[in-house]
Amino acid sequence: MKQKYKFLFKRVLYYLHGEKFFKRLNYDWKSLPSRTEIIQNIINKKNYEKYLEIGCDKDDNFSKIQAKIKIGVDPQRGGTIRMTSDEFFKKNKENFDIIFLDGLHTYEQTIKDIQNSLNIISEKGVILIHDCLPKKIWNQIVPRVYGHWNGDVWKAIVHSRTFDQADTYTIIADHGLGIIFKRQNRNLLNLKITNFKKLKYADYYNNHMKFMNLINYDNLEKIF
Ligand SMILES: C[S@@+](CC[C@H](N)C(=O)[O-])C[C@H]1O[C@@H](n2cnc3c(N)ncnc32)[C@H](O)[C@@H]1O
Repeated sequence: MKQKYKFLFKRVLYYLHGEKFFKRLNYDWKSLPSRTEIIQNIINKKNYEKYLEIGCDKDDNFSKIQAKIKIGVDPQRGGTIRMTSDEFFKKNKENFDIIFLDGLHTYEQTIKDIQNSLNIISEKGVILIHDCLPKKIWNQIVPRVYGHWNGDVWKAIVHSRTFDQADTYTIIADHGLGIIFKRQNRNLLNLKITNFKKLKYADYYNNHMKFMNLINYDNLEKIF
């Protein structure tokens, strides 16, 4: 309850001093497949063996995933290794077939996690990123001011869309699931900016399709 009032107070402050753009996107996450279903289907279809999850929390997803080798990294709880993603990537010498990034939901951390993952993803592997599609401005404010927190992970997706050697999409499911293949970018986003952190929620809303390269789950097989 106390948390609820803290968030409300922070939202009032933000309302007075922050960006004022309150249009909402109309996604109905409950009617779409979950991250767990999507990850497991990819593992099964592609015969992936080595799974890495960054940010496990209560293991809601990690405990349900079936793979030959499972590593989960979280500094607080869940998974199999108690450290931050930065510490893990520094020490790690393994490659993985599928990496699910769901740790600290800031642009700065997510783009680092993406770059580190691109260094260790196996040749035919895939990187997934949770919480890429905030429905309203409040979901994406850093630091958190709202119940469901996507953070500004979406800015890391926009940044990754400008890489020549990464092919990035966003699956319309479970708060937005980014998906990155380590290959030539098939739909390069040509943005003349260098500081992606400065992007506004209005930029995201107004350029939604182009920035996020959206894909329906039913069409996923077409991009593999
Ligand atoms: C949204 S929860 C993860 C939920 C989980 N993946 C699931 O699907 O149910 C985010 C987790 O990221 C962890 N986290 C925060 N900062 C992190 C960091 N720097 N590296 C790795 N994990 C981090 C938090 O401790 C928290 O447990």
